[in-house]
Amino acid sequence: MKAETLAAPGVEALWPLCLHIVRQRRLGKPPPDGAALTWHESQGFTLGDDWSAQAAELFTLVKPVLDRTPGSTPWVIGQLGQSLNGCIATRSGDANYINGAEVLLHLHRLRALSDAVVVGAATAAIDNPQLTTRHVEGDNPVRVVVDPTLRLSPALRVFSDGAAPTLLVCDASREAEAARRVGAEQVLGVPHLTGPDGAVDVRALRAALVGRGLRVLFVEGGGITVSRFMRQGCMDRLHLSIASVVIGDGRPGLLLPQDLSLRECARPPCRVYRMGADVLWDLDLRAAMP
Ligand SMILES: NC(=O)c1ccc[n+]([C@@H]2O[C@H](COP(=O)([O-])OP(=O)(O)OC[C@H]3O[C@@H](n4cnc5c(N)ncnc54)[C@H](OP(=O)(O)O)[C@@H]3O)[C@@H](O)[C@H]2O)c1
Repeated sequence: MKAETLAAPGVEALWPLCLHIVRQRRLGKPPPDGAALTWHESQGFTLGDDWSAQAAELFTLVKPVLDRTPGSTPWVIGQLGQSLNGCIATRSGDANYINGAEVLLHLHRLRALSDAVVVGAATAAIDNPQLTTRHVEGDNPVRVVVDPTLRLSPALRVFSDGAAPTLLVCDASREAEAARRVGAEQVLGVPHLTGPDGAVDVRALRAALVGRGLRVLFVEGGGITVSRFMRQGCMDRLHLSIASVVIGDGRPGLLLPQDLSLRECARPPCRVYRMGADVLWDLDLRAAMP
């Protein structure tokens, strides 16, 4: 059995309720309405008063994901863990671990609450991640690896460990080639996945994932992939976890080239959470960039 690494009164009772909500959603069923967590058509889930401060804080943080219903529009949450100077890894690609155990636990919770976890090809190549929920109780999401040019090795853990379903996303024109590498059941070919400049069209990607019943997407990195979702207006929420570390000349997090005055720049509504030694910014991008 997987164990929570953080013990907080009330969180142990709340988390199974969160998982139940997500399992109902994945089955296409309406939100469960219980005494502890009450469903309202207009405001989503509300939590009763008698929970610990830690449980109430967790609820506030994950409520936007819990409020997704089977009929909701597709919804995307991203995350980046970064240094004080905005880097998500060293230049050589070392990102393990910029943030502490509390943020890692939170990432596994977000995986458990999402239908799919999405990573870019560089993250898959460098980190060789498992993308499972092994640090929390909860079901693994579908693992989605975006590799338009089929540069990734089939030996990577996501393609070979069988721990959870995996989809290698490539252009539809290369679907057969991808199937020979990792097996047809692990391939999702998307028509016109990349534009003339080679950049991934994340709207096309999102539509293809919705076609597979994957409507709540957790984009876990890296910076190029998260930035593409943001630039193309396809990210609803971003969890930015900042660690007290300075990484000189590292890999950048958000890359959003814009020639705007400071007055014109987006200032998304946000909440700030303390996570061990790190600080997590929960940014409501949809409110900032309709
Ligand atoms: N701190 C965090 O929260 C966090 C989270 C995830 C990842 N990371 C770190 O972020 C880094 C990766 O992020 P990123 O922004 O550079 O890229 P990414 O978003 O993971 O992947 C996107 C790009 O990967 C490129 N790519 C580069 N090297 C590749 C290779 N060896 N094989 C296949 N594709 C490759 C692709 O280029 P083409 O367009 O040419 O195909 C694509 O544009 C890693 O060091 C990882 O450890 C940190």
